[in-house]
Amino acid sequence: MRLNAYLARAGVASRRKADELIKTGRVTVNGEPGQLNTFVEKRDRVELDGKPLARQPLAYVLLHKPAGVVTTASDPNGRPTVVELVSDHKTRLVPVGRLDADTTGALLLTNDGDLAHRLAHPRYEVEKIYEAEVEGEPSDDALRQLEQGVELDDGRTAPARARRLAPSRIELEIHEGKKHQVKRMLAAVGHPVVRLHRGRYAGLTLKGLGPGESRELTGAEVERLRSPRAS
Ligand code: URA
Repeated sequence: MRLNAYLARAGVASRRKADELIKTGRVTVNGEPGQLNTFVEKRDRVELDGKPLARQPLAYVLLHKPAGVVTTASDPNGRPTVVELVSDHKTRLVPVGRLDADTTGALLLTNDGDLAHRLAHPRYEVEKIYEAEVEGEPSDDALRQLEQGVELDDGRTAPARARRLAPSRIELEIHEGKKHQVKRMLAAVGHPVVRLHRGRYAGLTLKGLGPGESRELTGAEVERLRSPRAS
């Protein structure tokens, strides 16, 4: 694997920050300064500031994200982050995609960069199911518009599934991940979101997890996510 990916897997830094470390010459591979295009294999000896590094095992954690927590590794405004919530896992985990600070629900974190990249890629059309409490009472026509696609300033949304759970509570299943997509879709049909919760992500539900709690995925769940069409 590429040297920056190796450093990320060793828990040293993100791939981008790893590139900076490599450029400063602090990373050596078999005693030679590593380059941005260096590839490392199992038998290679990688050191940072002269200290040997080892790859960490892959880890996959499902978090029930509470409100008020941001989906980044660090927040300039000092708000708590999802990464801090799973910090008792020994590896450096990063969130797959993002939930807004005020959105609650299912969020996957992992150090498996390849899987994270695939799941976040629109081509994989990962299923995401949201429950939205909205202003007003969406009509059947509004639900139909949500399902058929609404025009947003960055393009039309793909077909979705919308279901009324209560007069002002809508379940919306989408398979793409535009920024603030659910809030923008509901605002576009005249019903701004008051509260948003993601109950399901790629087939993973929050069963047994209270807000702020997390659990490791089972081997079977990881296998399913790795299969070409996780849902
Ligand atoms: N759509 C939104 O608008 N916000 C989220 O947090 C997730 C999806």
